Amino acid sequence: MKTISFGSTGETVSRMCLGTMMFGRRCDEREADAILGLALDRGVTFLDTAAMYENGETEAILGRILAGRRDRFFITTKVHRSVDGATIRASIDESLARLRTDHVDLYMIHWPATGMRPAEMMEALNDVVAAGKARFVGFCNCPAWLFAHCNRIAAENGWAPLVCNQLPYNLLERGIEVEILPQAVAEGVAITTYRALLAGLLAGKYRPGEPLPSDARGQTDARIGDWLSRYGEGVAKLHAMAAEMGVQPGHLATAWVYGREGVSTPIVGVSSLEQLRSAIDGFELELAAEQRDRLSSFFGAEVKEEAGGRFPELRRSFELVSPRPAE
Ligand SMILES: NC(=O)c1ccc[n+]([C@@H]2O[C@H](COP(=O)([O-])OP(=O)(O)OC[C@H]3O[C@@H](n4cnc5c(N)ncnc54)[C@H](OP(=O)(O)O)[C@@H]3O)[C@@H](O)[C@H]2O)c1
Repeated sequence: MKTISFGSTGETVSRMCLGTMMFGRRCDEREADAILGLALDRGVTFLDTAAMYENGETEAILGRILAGRRDRFFITTKVHRSVDGATIRASIDESLARLRTDHVDLYMIHWPATGMRPAEMMEALNDVVAAGKARFVGFCNCPAWLFAHCNRIAAENGWAPLVCNQLPYNLLERGIEVEILPQAVAEGVAITTYRALLAGLLAGKYRPGEPLPSDARGQTDARIGDWLSRYGEGVAKLHAMAAEMGVQPGHLATAWVYGREGVSTPIVGVSSLEQLRSAIDGFELELAAEQRDRLSSFFGAEVKEEAGGRFPELRRSFELVSPRPAE
């Protein structure tokens, strides 16, 4: 597995980040243990988790299976639910107890929240760093303006800056190309991206015109059926190109993400050892510019401000923060 330097942190991480959201949900502890072992063997040492996953159970599983090998990983976790100072200070202690470690490498806010107080949030994140409970801090799903706003507050107060933003990015959800990626390049922000495989749709799990497989997230995630009906033609073209090149569709989808300037590393989610094997193999692939363009053309996704999920409302929401008092 190749490595990359992680934004302006001076750290080196594996080019693939392993997403653990399915640990305790679609894969049990034994499988998760095997996944972690293979990841380590193949040089995937960057892990992404969150307090929210299975309401803490994912972190608890990780805590048990990381025993004796925690120091070989660069671990990210996220604040549980809110963004206020008290929640941040309590949430990190709960995460560390579940993860059975005295620190995480990167501690992130999970989502912006209406009425949030950025100064209070940045001070609490700084306290976490000062206490040695996290080496770096970041903010997921954060619009570029809010990221810059928080870091101005940090700079004014001599607090730890946000070093990483984490957002959805894939062949269909391309909103971060507008402001987030240029900001990342200009300011050395590390960008980790999620949903490279569109929850399995771009990995060949679902085929246009065929029923959804029974053992799949599509059974409970309504977005997958919706994406399939809207983008089935593009998915079929993706499969054809993969067959032509002798690779798997997911390899093309992931390589398209990590080849983009400004992206530090995609987080790839797996729910089995087999899926991890495939994901790792995919990181060998480097796409030529014309192959990237061809893949982009299959989906004709408009590159506009909006990304997936709840991002559009967050970008423009004036209710997120209070106006700055007049000086
Ligand atoms: N910060 C945030 O707000 C946020 C939000 C979402 C996710 N994340 C992070 O990003 C990670 C990835 O997100 P994600 O799991 O939603 O997206 P993803 O990586 O696009 O999708 C992963 C899913 O794709 C399927 N898959 C993987 N490899 C496959 C293969 N070789 N063949 C067929 N299907 C395959 C599996 O589905 P099945 O399980 O159905 O087999 C797997 O659960 C998470 O684990 C989490 O760490 C962060």
